[in-house]
Amino acid sequence: MQTNPLIDGLRIEATPGPTTLVIFGASGDLTRRKLLPALYNLSRGNRLPARFAVIGVARSRFDDDEFRKQFHESLREFEDVDAERDEVAASLATRIFYMPGELDDPGLYQRLAAKLAEIDGAEGVLYYLAIPPTVYANVVEHLGASGLSVEPAQGWRRIIAEKPFGTDLASARELNRLIHRHFDEAQVFRIDHYLGKETVQNLLVFRFANGMFEPIWNRRYIDHVQITAAETVGVERRASYYEGAGALRDMVQNHLLQLMTLVAMEPPTAFTAESVRDRKMDALVSVQPLVDPEGPNVVRAQYREGWVDGADVIGYRAEPGVAPSSVTETYAALRVQLDSWRWAGVPFFLRTGKRLPKRTTEIAIQFRRPPLEIFRRVSQSPVASNLLVVNVQPDEGITIRFEAKLPGTRMQLSPVMMNFRYGSTFGGEVPEAYQTLLLDAMLGDPTLFARHDFVESSWALITPVHESWSANAASEIPAYEAGEWGPAEADALIGRDGRRWRTL
Ligand code: BG6
Repeated sequence: MQTNPLIDGLRIEATPGPTTLVIFGASGDLTRRKLLPALYNLSRGNRLPARFAVIGVARSRFDDDEFRKQFHESLREFEDVDAERDEVAASLATRIFYMPGELDDPGLYQRLAAKLAEIDGAEGVLYYLAIPPTVYANVVEHLGASGLSVEPAQGWRRIIAEKPFGTDLASARELNRLIHRHFDEAQVFRIDHYLGKETVQNLLVFRFANGMFEPIWNRRYIDHVQITAAETVGVERRASYYEGAGALRDMVQNHLLQLMTLVAMEPPTAFTAESVRDRKMDALVSVQPLVDPEGPNVVRAQYREGWVDGADVIGYRAEPGVAPSSVTETYAALRVQLDSWRWAGVPFFLRTGKRLPKRTTEIAIQFRRPPLEIFRRVSQSPVASNLLVVNVQPDEGITIRFEAKLPGTRMQLSPVMMNFRYGSTFGGEVPEAYQTLLLDAMLGDPTLFARHDFVESSWALITPVHESWSANAASEIPAYEAGEWGPAEADALIGRDGRRWRTL
C-alpha cells in the first residue's frame, strides 16, 4: 500500500532545546556503562539537540582527549561500535569536554561557570550526579553557592540524582531539604531506571489505553499480585556499597515499589507528570505498615555457595569485600497490603534476590477462579485461574493464560497462553532505560522520575523493617543456596495466605 510521506513528516518527535550535560562522576562506572552509550544511541536516533555538549567532571587528571578516548572505549565495550570509524560517534566526541577537579573545591564551580559561558548550547544545563550519595551535598551546595542552579531568563537548570536517594527516611528527607534549598522540585529529576524500561512504561498504556482491563483490575476479580525481580549475578564488585545497602534498600524501596504502584494506582485524569505521580502516591500511602505484630510480612535471606548459570559460585560471605559474618540480605520477600477500595484483601507479594536461578523481572496478576466450576464433571483437570503476566525483562512482553478446550470428541480443558512479544511484534531494539530518562530530563518531563514525596513515603515504609533487622544485627540470617529460588521462609510467607510463588 502506498503511504503518504507527509504523514511521517508530520509526526512530531520532541527534541530538546540547546543543552549541556554536566556529568559529575565522569570517570565512574555509571558514565562508562550507561550514560555514554545512551548519549551515543540518542545521537544515532537524531534525538539530541543540534546544539549539545557534554562536560565530564571528576577527580582523574584527564584532558578532553583522554575523556573522548574513554567514550570510544565505552562504545566498543558496551555497544560493539568502532568509534574511530563511526560518524555519529566521531561527531559526538567533538562535543565532549572534560574538567578535572575536587568536588569540594569552589574553584571547580567557577571554572565550570566560565566553561558554560563559552560553550555553545548552555541555555539548558543538566547536572548529573553520577557520584556516591555521600558527596551529593557537596556538589549541590557548591552549585547553589556559585549561582549555577539559578535559571536564566532564556533557559533552564536541572539536576538528576541517581539512586540510592538516601539510606533511610531521615537521610532522604535531609537530601530533599538540601536540594530544595537550591533547586525547585520542577528542576529535580530523581532516577529510578526501572521507570525508563519500555515494558514499565507500557504498563500505563496497557492499563489506561485499553478499555477491557480496567473494569476487572480490582479485588472483585484479582486474587493476588506477584512481582519478581530475580538476578543471577551476585554482589559483583559492589560490596563496598551493597554491604551497607542489602536487597531491601537496593531493590525494594525503589524499583519494586515503583512497579507495585504502577499496578495499583487509580487511573490518572491525564497523562501528565503530576496526575500520574499523584495517583502513584495515593497507592503508596495506602500501603499498610510492614512491621506487623500479628506476624512477619517480610523475609530476608543471604545466598550461600551453589550453582548458577552453569558454574559453581561462592557464597555471599566469601565475596571480595564482604565481612565473613555479614548479615546483609541478598534476598527479600514481602507481603504488602493496600488499604483501598480497589485492593482491600488482595495481597501483593514482592520478591527480589541475587544468585537466583534465572534473570527475570515480571509482574503476575493472578485472577480469581470462575464463581462456578461447571466443567468439573466432564473434565478431569481442574480449571486453572486466569493469569496476566507482564514480562518486564529480558523477554519483554505480555502473556495471558486462559482455559481452552482440547481438540477432540471429549470435553477436556487445558490452560493456553496468548503471547505478545515486543521483539517479534515490533522488531528492532528496545531502547535502554537511560536513553529515555536522559531525553525526558532534557525535555523537562518528570513523569518517569521519582517525586520527593514518593521517595520519602517509600523510605517511611521500608525504614522500620530495616531498623528492626538492624536491632537484631547479631542474629543469623536465613540462607538459600545460590541457584535456588530463595529460602523456605519465603515459601512459608506466601503459603500462610494459601498461595505459592510462581515457578519461573
Ligand atoms: C540497581 C541495583 O539499581 O538495579 C543493582 O543497584 C541491580 O543491584 C540493578 O543489579 C538491576 O537492574 P536491571 O536493569 O539489570 O534489572
